[in-house]
Amino acid sequence: MVTGASRGIGLELARQALARGDRVVATTRQPAPDLDALAAGHGERLVQLRLDVGSMESIIDAHAALEGVVDRIDILVNSAGAYSHQSEHWDPDATLFDTVTQEELLEVFRINAAGPMLVTQHFLNLIRASPRGRIVNLSSLVGSVSSKTGGGDYAYAASKAALNIMTRALAAELAPEGIVALVMTPGWVRTRMGGPTATLSPEESVRGLLRTIGRLTTRDAGTFIDYQGKQQPW
Ligand SMILES: NC(=O)c1ccc[n+]([C@@H]2O[C@H](COP(=O)([O-])OP(=O)(O)OC[C@H]3O[C@@H](n4cnc5c(N)ncnc54)[C@H](OP(=O)(O)O)[C@@H]3O)[C@@H](O)[C@H]2O)c1
Repeated sequence: MVTGASRGIGLELARQALARGDRVVATTRQPAPDLDALAAGHGERLVQLRLDVGSMESIIDAHAALEGVVDRIDILVNSAGAYSHQSEHWDPDATLFDTVTQEELLEVFRINAAGPMLVTQHFLNLIRASPRGRIVNLSSLVGSVSSKTGGGDYAYAASKAALNIMTRALAAELAPEGIVALVMTPGWVRTRMGGPTATLSPEESVRGLLRTIGRLTTRDAGTFIDYQGKQQPW
């Protein structure tokens, strides 16, 4: 199951997982023509679900809609994310202290930090039904506290740092059940959020993400790694 599958990394995750034969639950908050186009080639292996990760009502409705359609979720990738009200793509110079607002701070936190945790909370019964449940929260090096030396990115960086620590707590709680929860960064990717000058294509990033996710073991619970499996600084 992948959230935020209308475009960017979420859409590419759905595309590559379908291509390798997985059954995919792809969620979007609004109609998604690019995802619809994938449905044509993959019939029943693609389940599309409406899910706004910032809305509790939507999370509850999406979970209810999936009950009885699939009996388990092996891998949940929380990919849906928002950057800033001030810039569409990553730009620390456009997201400075004197312009950040309460509305932006809370909205970005709601989508990037609370969203993945509450989606996971509500779909956990289906993850528990898998013999090898994996919860992958897409974070960012921008959320690394120890790497933060420059300004900007107040809302986004704080939301990802919050996601990191909540994922570590969740990993510790779920480890006794054999469920692996962790945070991963996809690298710097040419999506709407990453911007046109990013170093990786969505195809490259997602190839690495899926390969690394496939190799996860219980030792990876609570870690922060990149799309190639390299440890990241907290
Ligand atoms: N691109 C990078 O370089 C990079 C680097 C580090 C981490 N990441 C992380 O990787 C993840 C995917 O990023 P991306 O580059 O693919 O971003 P993107 O191209 O901007 O796509 C963002 C996705 O999130 C969805 N979304 C936003 N708010 C949502 C909400 N409230 N409910 C449900 N879906 C929502 C968008 O849906 P709509 O189409 O409806 O807006 C879209 O599908 C994010 O968590 C991001 O923080 C990206």
